[in-house]
Amino acid sequence: LNNGLGLTPPMGWNSWNFFGCKISEQLIQEMADALVTSGLADIGYTYVNIDDCWASHRDNEGNLVADKKSFPSGIKFLADKIHAKGLKIGIYSDAGILTCQRRPGSLYHELQDAQIFASWDIDYLKYDNCFNLGIQPQNRYPSMAVALNKTNRPIYFSICEWGQNDPAKWAGEIGNSWRTTDDIKDKWQSIVTIADINNQWAAYAGPGAWNDPDMLEVGNGGMTFNEYRAHFSIWCLMKAPLLIGCDVRNMTSETFEILSNVEAIAVNQDILGVQGSKVSKQGSGECLEVWAGPLSGSRVAVALWNRCSYGNNITASWGDVGIVSDSPMIVRDLWEHRFLSGSFIGNLTMYVESHDCKLLIFIPEEQKLYYGEQ
Ligand code: GLA
Ligand code: GLA
Repeated sequence: LNNGLGLTPPMGWNSWNFFGCKISEQLIQEMADALVTSGLADIGYTYVNIDDCWASHRDNEGNLVADKKSFPSGIKFLADKIHAKGLKIGIYSDAGILTCQRRPGSLYHELQDAQIFASWDIDYLKYDNCFNLGIQPQNRYPSMAVALNKTNRPIYFSICEWGQNDPAKWAGEIGNSWRTTDDIKDKWQSIVTIADINNQWAAYAGPGAWNDPDMLEVGNGGMTFNEYRAHFSIWCLMKAPLLIGCDVRNMTSETFEILSNVEAIAVNQDILGVQGSKVSKQGSGECLEVWAGPLSGSRVAVALWNRCSYGNNITASWGDVGIVSDSPMIVRDLWEHRFLSGSFIGNLTMYVESHDCKLLIFIPEEQKLYYGEQ
């Protein structure tokens, strides 16, 4: 969507994956504080997004009202607090008559709801798909896009129709991103399944309009360090929105190490905005994969993703990752935070542990001096 927002994928935090409906204005503020004190805000995680369960009903004038028990001071108060910390605030509604947790939805209330969100100084709207009366999403999402536009407040519009009607084909005109799949789960198989579906739509992504493979599960406990590292690597490479889904007040140092990898984040936030995709499957089970995509400055981001249950070598060949065959490249390892020694021509092979992922940047050798190290 050409509203000036989401020129690179949005970054921040969302309440749903870890807290579900157990949210409150105090919790949201604590999370905002934790983003700031941990340093995550400084490296780009600036959206603080409230998901489902903040609204309780509509008042006599039809205005959405925040749940008195959990948000007694109201959303405008909270938005002011969040903005005072230098962050942005996101909210949630639904293109149906109820949200997924049966709070009031915005279908047929688009203008009024967009107005009230704007009056609260909301910066981001996630717009869900439950209780939609069986109406096609193409007939429900545009009215909210128009309503948001009418407010004259720039509001990032996140379309969440779960990939049901091939949103990549139509949602880029009206939204800044669109979910391509069912809800993510804190499980390895979910990451694998979602990545493959999201990958099918790579060609449709670009600045202002992203495929959304759902929010991060890093730090929620259901996967190993290597699995979370693979999850984060591929989400960065796929130019996914990076919305943290864990309790940032209580992160382990391993969780922080993954989420704060500024080299991986730089791949996600590269100005070229090209979604990397799967370019090769190797091994007898075809579970050794190469994913790649171009970056600015004639560089290439490459992920060597081992989905097999055993460690193995994975080979990125220049043809597969999109480099002219005789170009020498130096290689930066974004998890080891160092350059591999020497330079490479034609292909690169690395050993990758089971359920782990290397994330690399291939850089033309002539840029070596510019990158200093080596
Ligand atoms: C749907 C969405 C989730 C979350 C829940 C909230 O399942 O896909 O991301 O917003 O609703 O109820
Ligand atoms: C069902 C659920 C929703 C959401 C979608 C995602 O419809 O009711 O909450 O999780 O699946 O596909």
